[in-house]
Amino acid sequence: MTQTIRIENISQHVGEKVTLKGWLYASTRKGKLYFGRMRDGSGMVQLVAYRPEVGDELFEDVKRIGQESSIIVSGEVRANERAPGTPGGFEVAIESLEILQNVEDYPITPKEHGVEFLMDNRHHWIRSRRQWAILRVRSVIKKAIMDFLDNDGFINIDTPIITPSAAEGTSNLFEVGYFDETAYLAQTGQLYNEANIMSMGKVYCFGPTFRAEKSKTRRHLTEFWMVEPEIAFCDLDDLMDLEERFMTYIVKTAMEKCAAELEILERDLAPLQNVTGDFPRISYDKAVEMLHELREKETDPEKKKELEIEWGDDFGSPHETVLTQQFDKPLFVYGYPSAVKAFYMEPWPDRPEVCKSVDLLAPEGYGEIIGGSERMSDPQKLVDAIHAHGLPPENYSWYIELRQFGSVPHSGFGLGLERTVAWICGLPHIRETTAFPRMLYRMNP
Ligand code: 4AD
Ligand code: MG
Repeated sequence: MTQTIRIENISQHVGEKVTLKGWLYASTRKGKLYFGRMRDGSGMVQLVAYRPEVGDELFEDVKRIGQESSIIVSGEVRANERAPGTPGGFEVAIESLEILQNVEDYPITPKEHGVEFLMDNRHHWIRSRRQWAILRVRSVIKKAIMDFLDNDGFINIDTPIITPSAAEGTSNLFEVGYFDETAYLAQTGQLYNEANIMSMGKVYCFGPTFRAEKSKTRRHLTEFWMVEPEIAFCDLDDLMDLEERFMTYIVKTAMEKCAAELEILERDLAPLQNVTGDFPRISYDKAVEMLHELREKETDPEKKKELEIEWGDDFGSPHETVLTQQFDKPLFVYGYPSAVKAFYMEPWPDRPEVCKSVDLLAPEGYGEIIGGSERMSDPQKLVDAIHAHGLPPENYSWYIELRQFGSVPHSGFGLGLERTVAWICGLPHIRETTAFPRMLYRMNP
């Protein structure tokens, strides 16, 4: 019996005979020479068999392994600079083979497939090299998020998924029956975090959130993961400082730990390497001014139309894209009109039409990846805001009470995991950032 190893550790076994357990990814043959690519979840390695060396019987067996067949292979590990793989530079010369299940008609072939077909076959598609790389980057980003916050003194607290009320608007709620009452899937854990900081000072929740997004875009899922830090005694500037450090750490960690994955994804690293130091900070007022100038200069009539904006409007993705193109780092835009933001944001002193909100916009057209704000700390203003947004005050009584017993200035933000993964991986669409995406008209598989 030879030792079973994982492909990720193959460099430690050059010259040894080892056993690999996994799946055949692809193969080619040139006369008496067979090349396969085998994956085992941890990586991918080249398999070789030469008919005069292995004999006719084994060569015939090797030849008939179909794509995605489950196999156990033993053979010698050799260094071969030109062998593709992750890690590249190694191959295994097949000495024995066990086919657990031979597959002849795997639905995803090396030819091009349409997106709908691939989405219908998502349960298989996740085995492909690109999807494998993306899901690994996601896993590393999740851990980086938690490591950063844990090391920064935050306590991780879970917030409920079944909630009685809205926090981020009433138009995109998922309703669920809750015995005799109506409940909603959580759009955010923030309101509960605002209670949790009164116990812990600095907290975060990190889990799935839900929004019945009725439009098809490349940035929206109906179920997505959000990490939401909330901090007592923190103002808008402190919040931006924290977001800057947080984002820098996440991007740096992903580049360090996922070099191979980002290479598979052909990610240009230059824009990511810029994500350090101070990010530019501009007010919404200034952003609208810049948009007016940029629109003026735009010659394409269609783009000109897309860039229409008046003070008071929320930004659409064309606005965010052209704004971020003016900078080479993620961009903070703060002080949005209160009317386009959630009810709980602290008004700007002497300018109640503006609130102490801040969005962090990612470069390269990825747009808003973080939304945050200073929270309203005055109970009466909060009651007024709840009324003004048409929300039932009785559902928020506990939340308002937080402002009556030791209220403090506090702030927090939410970072969307999938948008962050899409940006760091350089993906054209958010649907590939999670194993089984939930979107408008898509909850299968
Ligand atoms: O800006 P949002 O709506 O903010 C909140 O929910 C606050 N309660 C967060 C807080 O202050 N604690 O959402 C935050 C982030 C967005 O910037 C975006 O990255 C992501 O969540 N997000 C989505 N990601 C994918 N699909 C969707 N439908 C998303 N909606 C928001
Ligand atoms: Mg937002």
